[in-house]
Amino acid sequence: MTLQIDIPAASKSYPLLIQQGLLSAIASHLLDGAHKIVIITDSTVQKLYGNSLLDRLKASGKEAHLRSFPAGESSKTRATKEYLEDAMQEISCGRDTLVLALGGGVVLDIAAFTAATYCRGVPFIMLPTTLLAMVDACLGGKAGINTSHGKSLVGTFCHPEAILIDIDTLNTLPKEELSFGFSEVIKYSLIADRDLFFLLQESINMAEIIERCCRIKQSVVEADEKEAGLRRILNFGHTIAHALEAASGYTLPHGAAVMLGMACEAKMSCLLGYLAEEEFLAILHLLPSFSEMKLPKTIRQESLYYHLHRDKKSEKTLPRFVLISEIGKTLVFDGAYCTFVEEKIVNQALDWLYQCYAQ
Ligand SMILES: NC(=O)c1ccc[n+]([C@@H]2O[C@H](COP(=O)([O-])OP(=O)(O)OC[C@H]3O[C@@H](n4cnc5c(N)ncnc54)[C@H](O)[C@@H]3O)[C@@H](O)[C@H]2O)c1
Repeated sequence: MTLQIDIPAASKSYPLLIQQGLLSAIASHLLDGAHKIVIITDSTVQKLYGNSLLDRLKASGKEAHLRSFPAGESSKTRATKEYLEDAMQEISCGRDTLVLALGGGVVLDIAAFTAATYCRGVPFIMLPTTLLAMVDACLGGKAGINTSHGKSLVGTFCHPEAILIDIDTLNTLPKEELSFGFSEVIKYSLIADRDLFFLLQESINMAEIIERCCRIKQSVVEADEKEAGLRRILNFGHTIAHALEAASGYTLPHGAAVMLGMACEAKMSCLLGYLAEEEFLAILHLLPSFSEMKLPKTIRQESLYYHLHRDKKSEKTLPRFVLISEIGKTLVFDGAYCTFVEEKIVNQALDWLYQCYAQ
């Protein structure tokens, strides 16, 4: 299955392929123009897929190299980017270098950001290997690193030459990582795809689910590359989730926080009278079938307010939320895709969240 992604604002158009076995049969025409190929990956993915990809490229006569860094969010730093840039200079990479970003969202973020600034920009191809990276991080052009002040605070918008999604790589993904990816899948169903929501209650066809999510993200980022409006809908559940992550000192995984965030923001939609009770209950019924809904008691409710006021969508430090009117439909407020919610309602929704899920 191939989608053609067109980002008019960036004058960029590129294919997104979803297929089994793609990694072992990387289309050589995609790599034709490159003098040197550098695979950027992490320590786990290197062993699983990186080394064999490197061997195949070399066997096909390409000058190929691989550079990796320790797996995990703690590697998404300036220091890792600097290490990769120095490593590419040591092997004399010029503008005719192609970067292959092979891994989860951490690898894609850092490899794309490195490629975007190396020699003022070299081409790169995304090879996502986690569900979260397949349905979210690989598409949309955002690339960045963390600083001591927060997540993805330094970065850029940049687009790849292609996105190649080999769903076979999910076979080695730990169950917990898979469930983090499903938090974003459920989000797509809640903001834009009612049928997907019900599909998730039946049998799971990974290729179909990934395609539906990529199509939604495609339509959103093609219309609003830089998050001036519509792209905000992708933040459903994320205002609360980001506050939970920050208040936990980033020990609560993003996927787990998004599950809780979606429950809480659906509750707000319900308290405000936008979302019917039975729709809300259907959401609450689905969420735990994909991930444990556990809010660590160590996250103090009061500390959430501090982080909510620092959310990227806040205006004059007041947090704004994406709300839904039914499963598959996001609300629009005077042309804006997020809105202020009275503090009383935010408190009520958070009280409910703590009562239900704090452990
Ligand atoms: N740029 C964007 O638009 C965007 C969007 C969403 C998320 N992100 C970023 O993505 C990151 C999270 O991504 P993630 O959840 O993929 O985390 P990750 O990249 O840390 O991967 C999770 C773990 O799975 C391992 N792994 C990867 N593929 C595997 C496979 N096929 N088999 C076995 N293990 C495998 C990794 O080595 C890692 O240990 C965050 O930093 C987030 O900010 C970026």
